[in-house]
Amino acid sequence: MKLLAFAASSSTKSINKQLATYAASLVDGADVEILDINQYEMPIYSQDREEELGHPELAQKFFAKIGEADAIIISFAEHNGSYTAAYKNLFDWTSRIDMKVFQNKPMVLLATSPGPGGAATVLAAAEGSAPYFAADVKATLSIPSFFDNFDMETQALRNPELEDKLRSALAQL
Ligand SMILES: Cc1cc2nc3c(=O)[nH]c(=O)nc-3n(C[C@H](O)[C@H](O)[C@H](O)COP(=O)(O)O)c2cc1C
Repeated sequence: MKLLAFAASSSTKSINKQLATYAASLVDGADVEILDINQYEMPIYSQDREEELGHPELAQKFFAKIGEADAIIISFAEHNGSYTAAYKNLFDWTSRIDMKVFQNKPMVLLATSPGPGGAATVLAAAEGSAPYFAADVKATLSIPSFFDNFDMETQALRNPELEDKLRSALAQL
C-alpha cells in the first residue's frame, strides 16, 4: 500500500507532522511518503491569479501525489478554528484542477493542538466537507493536549487509550 501522510501545517516544528508521521509508522507493510506542504507553496489564490497562472505546476504535482497514493493520512493544525492559511491555499489551488481533490482515496483524518480542544473544530470542518472533495474518510481522531499525550523523545503516543483509538482508526484504511 502506498501511504501518503502529511500535516496541514507549514510549521517546521509541526506537531501535526509528528502525529501524521507516527500514525503512518503504525500501518503495517505500508510504503510511506511523508509530504511537506512547504514544498507546494504558491501565491495566495485569487481568480485573477488563476487567470494569469492557470493551474500552477505545484498544484498539479500535489494533485498527482494524491492520485498515486492508495491511502492518505492528513493531520490538521487549527488556526483560529479553521485551516492554516498554507493548507487552505494549496487546497484552493488544487480544487481548481478538479474539485475531486482526494480522488476517492481512503483517508484517516487526524488533528492535534497543545490545548484541550485538540483542533477538533478544524477536523469537523474537514470531515463535514469531505464528500464534496471525493474524500473517502474512513475514520477521524482528535488528539487533545498534544504535549501531555505524545512523548517527544520517542515520537510516540504515550496515552494508551488514544493509542488504541489511533490504531483502530488506521485499521480502517
Ligand atoms: C494564528 C494561530 C491561531 C491558532 N488558533 C488555534 C485554535 O483555534 N485552536 C487550537 O487548538 N489551537 C490554535 N493555535 C495553536 C496551534 O494549535 C498550535 O500552534 C499548533 O502547534 C499548530 O499545529 P502545528 O504545530 O502542526 O502547526 C493557534 C496558533 C496560531 C499561531
